[in-house]
Amino acid sequence: MRDKSNAFPFSPETLRSLRADTPGCESVVHFNNAGCGLLASPVLEAMLAHLRLEAAIGGYEAAAARQEEVRDFYAATAGLLNCSPENIAFAGSATDAYTRALSAIPFERGDVILTTRNDFISNQIAFLSLRKRFGVEIVHAPDHADGSGVDVEAMAALMRERRPRLVAVTHVPTNSGLVQPVAEIGRHCRELELLYLVDACQTVGQYEIDVEEIGCDLLTATCRKFLRGPRGSGFLYVSDRVLRAGYEPLFIDMYGARWVEPGRYRPVETAARFEDWEFPYSAVIGSAVATRYALQVGVRRIAERTPALGARLRDRLAGIPGVRLLDRGARPAALVTFEIDGWQPQPFKEAMDARGINSALSFREFAQYDFRDKDVEWALRLSPHYYNTEEEVDRVAATVAELSATAARR
Ligand SMILES: Cc1ncc(COP(=O)(O)O)c(C=O)c1O
Repeated sequence: MRDKSNAFPFSPETLRSLRADTPGCESVVHFNNAGCGLLASPVLEAMLAHLRLEAAIGGYEAAAARQEEVRDFYAATAGLLNCSPENIAFAGSATDAYTRALSAIPFERGDVILTTRNDFISNQIAFLSLRKRFGVEIVHAPDHADGSGVDVEAMAALMRERRPRLVAVTHVPTNSGLVQPVAEIGRHCRELELLYLVDACQTVGQYEIDVEEIGCDLLTATCRKFLRGPRGSGFLYVSDRVLRAGYEPLFIDMYGARWVEPGRYRPVETAARFEDWEFPYSAVIGSAVATRYALQVGVRRIAERTPALGARLRDRLAGIPGVRLLDRGARPAALVTFEIDGWQPQPFKEAMDARGINSALSFREFAQYDFRDKDVEWALRLSPHYYNTEEEVDRVAATVAELSATAARR
């Protein structure tokens, strides 16, 4: 029988124990998981233990002694994505993973990058930089008229017409809860044999992600957001197709390649080709533990609870005068964005901070197309996660109502 409690789909006891595992729950109402999730104690302990070991016996020696834990990063991440450990490369951030992937594509003048109007800011800047240096063309597929994300049929028509060198889609952008239909897009990419790169930074750890179902060639994410891993960690998934085709990062190092003779190197066979020799081992181990933790909690259950908490928050905020909700799409993710009358961004966020509520700001610059379409200059983003409670959601909404009323009186 399904539990109909507030903690759904967990039992209240399970939710209590998940919160007891999360020291930050005692000090803040953390609604900035889309920025960085709160570390669970086992993750923190594993990282501290590794740093202590480095101090005690030496950094290289500690890495050798903890080889198995390091290897588990690949096995755990592969388990999360439904691929093999050889398809995973550790990266310092999602952007680091993304630019390594981009650097592997031998762009030529006139090549087309087909993307969407809701792609992540840094990806778009990278495309513009490629345009400046190599003369690629950036094409944005149109959205549905109601703003509910990219029009897949129109995007597929562009794929057939323009034969892009790369199709690049962000699953959920940083600036709203919009969920793009990455698997539907992937089916067209597979049919037309187009290279497909997915930014799953906001969805890994929030939803079940299956790279086979998505049909992507490359997929990037950080571990610090909904996976609740440490800062300075992320990964790149590289498909067998891409590995076999010989793609390699532009700046490949002694870990990614063997220097087989003075005038020649050979990339390694696996996705390690995209990694560097130097690693922040405590972050790698912490990421492995965080991913195991998410798998143990159950990503399906996380995916039931986390967007539902976002929906509850949207529902509460919708009734507050002066608040305009900005998220579109049938079933948005747990990134709740809104603007509020009578406040400037920084003072508003500071007022939330002062009440013990963590949040984040998005500005027009983060979303040149989306925020222009919505006619907003800035938005506050609130992003709960499964370990947050319904009571916290209601408290956050009540705080926004209080601040909205204060603005009205000023
Ligand atoms: C959708 C999306 N992609 C990529 C990134 C970049 O991640 P990182 O800061 O780890 O490079 C973010 C960060 O907010 C994001 O929201």
